[in-house]
Amino acid sequence: MAKARATVFFCKECGYESSKWMGQCPGCRQWNTMVEEPAGKVLPSSAAKAGRGDRNRAKPVLLSEISLDEQDRMKTGFDELDRVLGSGVVAGSLILVGGDPGIGKSTLLLQVCRNLAADGKQVLYISGEESLKQIKLRANRIGTVCGELRFLCETNVESIQEAIQERKPQVVVIDSIQTMFREDISSAPGSVSQVRESTNVLMQLAKGLGIAIFIVGHVTKEGVVAGPRVLEHMVDTVLYFEGERTAAYRILRGVKNRFGSTNEIGVFEMLEEGLSEVKNPSEFLLSGRPEDASGAVVACLMEGTRSILLEVQALVTESNFGMARRTAAGADYNRVNLLMAVLEKRCRYDLGRFDAYVNVAGGLKMSEPAMDLAIILAIISSYKDKPIDPSTVIFGEVGLAGEVRAVSMAEQRVHEARKLGFTTCILPRLCLEKMKQKTEGIRLIGVSNVKEAIGAVL
Ligand code: TYD
Ligand code: MG
Repeated sequence: MAKARATVFFCKECGYESSKWMGQCPGCRQWNTMVEEPAGKVLPSSAAKAGRGDRNRAKPVLLSEISLDEQDRMKTGFDELDRVLGSGVVAGSLILVGGDPGIGKSTLLLQVCRNLAADGKQVLYISGEESLKQIKLRANRIGTVCGELRFLCETNVESIQEAIQERKPQVVVIDSIQTMFREDISSAPGSVSQVRESTNVLMQLAKGLGIAIFIVGHVTKEGVVAGPRVLEHMVDTVLYFEGERTAAYRILRGVKNRFGSTNEIGVFEMLEEGLSEVKNPSEFLLSGRPEDASGAVVACLMEGTRSILLEVQALVTESNFGMARRTAAGADYNRVNLLMAVLEKRCRYDLGRFDAYVNVAGGLKMSEPAMDLAIILAIISSYKDKPIDPSTVIFGEVGLAGEVRAVSMAEQRVHEARKLGFTTCILPRLCLEKMKQKTEGIRLIGVSNVKEAIGAVL
């Protein structure tokens, strides 16, 4: 008779299961991701049990029979969060909130719970990391809590399942999936199989009972939610809470959303009394901007449906070593190199002898190509040591031939710039030609290549 295996190996990235260790995972081709875990038998009945009894057997229905209730979307009391979620929390959805430790995940979700409870919803906050006293201390900081908001300190998934089935709350928060464990699985909490199977039970509960469940997930050094990638596949929505720990503001970014768009961001500020929304991020990002400094320009970028103005800075200095240094903070490093190559080849600037440092002020990470022209003009402004008029906004994509290409939603970008008091806008000529209505109070300069753009501002 074959001997039962004591351990199995799992890939940390994709959850691939194997009986022996391998350097490279055959599932996702990543190296050194296999970890050993005790082979616990997963009883299929346990996961399936979760929603049973409360769920009738599903019948196929016609599309026309499905009613879309607006009430299915619960407002969290934070417009920024609602927008990232796609106008509110969908009942029966599973939402994963990832982020570095101390970034404010627990604070955000506690505030969301408070708002939902004040709105008459039944909310259950389950913490596996903090004691009730710690939660109370935090709650005192964020203000009064009223309504049906209950707390539970528990890490055993079976007990959590019972508590949820008994109380039938509308919203549940699981503060950190990495602390949850199932007794029928022998590996430690936080391991691949525990995280996956615990999430499985929660998913059954969410779908079976129509409960919205927020799951907090820790982030590994590489910046992905710890545990297998399958976790991201299982949930409906994945949000990342990010930002520099030293900076006051935090960005909530959707990376997966079955109920909305994924390129929306929400901006929050961490205050003494918890998180508060930043309704106008442009004003926030441009505050404290140096006027009349060379190498600083204002770009207009789109994040989802919202336009954001931010400052792009460049510092170009003569290199002391044989090899010029280039760094890019907040912008794509390779893109900066490419743009510098365009400047050298197409505009004949001798940048090879110069170090260049490009920075997006405020610590935002941006990858929109509409930032290209702003980066180019910041570099040339610093190279020539000539400041660009501080009331100018710049956007446009730059191609390898040095041409300035059109970008989307030009009108909205111009509108945002005018709203914040900017008087000049450098934009791709194609965008200017396509604009239906000319905006009053702002001078629009259309450019078709990099040389023209440099001529227009310097
Ligand atoms: P927390 O929500 O515990 O982070 P996470 O759950 O993501 O690990 O956030 C903790 C940080 O936020 C901590 O450094 C203190 C700070 N903070 C405030 O500045 N103001 C507040 O009102 C609260 C509750 C926390
Ligand atoms: Mg926490």
